[in-house]
Amino acid sequence: MHPPLALCVFWLLPLALTLEEDSPLDCVPRKSVPSHTANAHLFHEEGVFNYSTMLLREDLDLLLLGAREAVYALDLKDITKKLASVKWEVTQQQRDECRNKGKDPETECMNYIRILHQTEDNRMYVCGTNAFDPECDYMSYADGKLTLEKKAEDGKGKCPFDPFQRYASIMVENNLFSATSMNFLGSEPVLARSSPVSIRTEFKSSWLHEPTFVSMAQMPESDLSEEGDDDKVYLFFSESAVECDCYNKLVVSRVARVCKGDLGGLRTLQKKWTSFLKARMDCPVLESQLPYIIQDTYRLCDPQQHWKDCLFYAIFTPQSDTSDLSAVCAYRVSDISKVFAEGKYKTPVPVETSFVKWVMYSGDVPVPRPGACIDNEARKAGINQTLDLPDRTLQFIKDRPLMDQAIQPIGEKPVLVRRGATFTRIIVNQVQAADGEKYHVMFIGTEEGTMLKAVNYDDEMFIIEEVQLFQPPEPIKTLKFSHVTGQLYAGSDSGAAQIPLASCWRSLSCMDCVLARDPYCGWDKADGKCVVLSDVKGEIIQSVKQGDASLCPDADPVKPMNRSFWHGGNLNLRCLPPSNLAKTSWERAGRPLTPSARIQVLQDGLLILNATESDSGRYRCLSVELSKADQYTSTVAEYQATALSDPGDTGSTQAQTKGPSVAGLQVVVGLLVVSLLALLAWNFYKGHLPLPWNCRKKNTEQSQETPEQGGLNSRVTYQDAPGPVPAEGKPLVSGTNNGRNNHTGGEAAGENEDPKDSLQYIDDEYEN
Ligand SMILES: *[C@@H]1O[C@H](CO)[C@@H](O)[C@H](O)[C@H]1NC(C)=O
Ligand SMILES: *[C@@H]1O[C@H](CO)[C@@H](O)[C@H](O)[C@H]1NC(C)=O
Ligand SMILES: *[C@@H]1O[C@H](CO)[C@@H](O)[C@H](O)[C@H]1NC(C)=O
Ligand SMILES: *[C@@H]1O[C@H](CO)[C@@H](O)[C@H](O)[C@H]1NC(C)=O
Repeated sequence: MHPPLALCVFWLLPLALTLEEDSPLDCVPRKSVPSHTANAHLFHEEGVFNYSTMLLREDLDLLLLGAREAVYALDLKDITKKLASVKWEVTQQQRDECRNKGKDPETECMNYIRILHQTEDNRMYVCGTNAFDPECDYMSYADGKLTLEKKAEDGKGKCPFDPFQRYASIMVENNLFSATSMNFLGSEPVLARSSPVSIRTEFKSSWLHEPTFVSMAQMPESDLSEEGDDDKVYLFFSESAVECDCYNKLVVSRVARVCKGDLGGLRTLQKKWTSFLKARMDCPVLESQLPYIIQDTYRLCDPQQHWKDCLFYAIFTPQSDTSDLSAVCAYRVSDISKVFAEGKYKTPVPVETSFVKWVMYSGDVPVPRPGACIDNEARKAGINQTLDLPDRTLQFIKDRPLMDQAIQPIGEKPVLVRRGATFTRIIVNQVQAADGEKYHVMFIGTEEGTMLKAVNYDDEMFIIEEVQLFQPPEPIKTLKFSHVTGQLYAGSDSGAAQIPLASCWRSLSCMDCVLARDPYCGWDKADGKCVVLSDVKGEIIQSVKQGDASLCPDADPVKPMNRSFWHGGNLNLRCLPPSNLAKTSWERAGRPLTPSARIQVLQDGLLILNATESDSGRYRCLSVELSKADQYTSTVAEYQATALSDPGDTGSTQAQTKGPSVAGLQVVVGLLVVSLLALLAWNFYKGHLPLPWNCRKKNTEQSQETPEQGGLNSRVTYQDAPGPVPAEGKPLVSGTNNGRNNHTGGEAAGENEDPKDSLQYIDDEYEN
């Protein structure tokens, strides 16, 4: 069927299952969705890699995608549609120079697009590493064309030299704020603003010490400010801790901030930030001695609320390789801003000969407060701009940019912890659920090309699903969200993907829809479908906090499927658990089935080896899923297994089919013989290649319960061989093609009459 798809299920499932029994810190995604064209729109251009820079231009309905030596303008609604592109390649001379400096011509000596921002005149500012000689340019989109203006601006201090080095940048009112290394060796890290007056950080280890820059965000803190405060730009990064009394290098996570209107000092801190303050950021993951390292952040602001209510969501990964946990912590902007505005400073004190210890500063703090923005009080004192600041204030901040207090997350613990694929990027979206409450849904990209969708419900971590976006797995390197299209955009080295915020249609039953606890989705009672909340007006069943499926109407009873098997052959009954949180169990004739060496309960079904007459009977596969509210049991599949005595004896099998008339039977048997012969002949010529098409067509020609399955059975062995998909999956398809209501999903609504739907449904099964 879809070998990569099947492999995927089997790759994800064991992982999920091994986690289940672990400590409560680990959170298993309820569903693991393999990569599938139905999940995502993908963009990739032949021979082009590293799609790691994105800019949303909702005003132009465009997604700008920066890759290696190229920029693309894609349709924001469907990124498979390329509207324009422009190449930005390095010249042979540049490449030679780069190689002569000892860099690799095939990787490092290329132009990696690293900065893409909108300017106030609606053009775009774009920078690339340009063979270890960063350069910036202006770019415009008009008449369906992307054009670079070839301004060749120096990109030093704006864009990294090294394409493998992390950086951060943000455009605020046409002024570029950037955090990167400003020399070839990568030894001069700066946080800089390039206009109107270019200023940067000091080259001092107390300011930035071997930093890894992560992200930037601005906060409109001048809004309704009684103190006449300035707007701020926040920088998130990790660095070697200067304050650590340890022999080994210790990396810590930091948040730093500067005032937007900083112009530097007059004599002290000339053309340097006078407002650069930083603090440690903690995300305490239990069991961990070493601090976790920040990897990405997302600023979440409710447009109806004050900036003080904004949050920063940040992802953290462990410092040592021994752990494979990743975590998300959430911080209040007001908590961060309070530490900078009122907190104590750390100060270095020399101990013994050469050792410096950082302790809390408890002496007098000069006025105006070091690192503060120019506010009304400063203005009253005649200080209208940072150039007017007294030397005492400037000298203080030059020596002590680090705050004593660390920033603690909301609740002093992570909102999500997970073992497994390392988190790389995060986006958070606020959505109002049917209960009227607003929830923060986290979308997290991982090293393995998957996207997690998770919510923290009153301290309960819940991962709704994990969708494989990139196959083969590639780390997600950039993530954006458009409020206009309601779509998420992810970039990796191999391509870009677009997915909707919710794929409610994947839930085929009310129970599955409700147990998914997805605030975007609800069960439409009238239509009998799992739908996106905003699309319906009628009565909706949803229970995000509890996962209370008792509100669901009774599921349609599952129609048993007939299976016949040969004496001494194998009987394989398929049953996929509807979610990773569900456990399946089997019953025969209403009593629990005891597994043995011969009767094996597999992840995807039941396998009975060397089956005999005594194995015939009624089999039922049950799924039990524990939700916060209750434990829910549903029947996933039911089978009536019948033994066939002799492979050659069609008479005995005819006896099973009571319905058809003699004439009908003759037709059936005639068709069977013809198709068996055709199959044999075909196999003979084609060298035993089983085509699903062939299988499905045969089944539609003949009635399901006639033992033409003998033909199928004869193929079971080599259909089993290529992959873990059981051969019995096939009759499932044909069964629904016959118009039968094979509710393998248990509670599925009666929507599967259409063969197209049922095929879709089969695919969905694999996605469980
Ligand atoms: C660019 O993509 C290639 C191919 O996936 C990868 O090997 C390489 O590491 C990437 N380079 C950077 C700078 O990310
Ligand atoms: C600050 O601005 C006020 C009014 O704009 C002005 O009177 C004062 O002289 C300025 N102070 C300095 C030091 O420039
Ligand atoms: C299974 O076989 C029985 C008779 O043995 C028949 O009545 C029933 O309709 C069949 N069910 C299906 C789903 O084919
Ligand atoms: C199958 O079962 C029969 C009877 O129980 C036994 O004689 C035979 O050895 C078994 N075959 C295999 C392959 O286990």
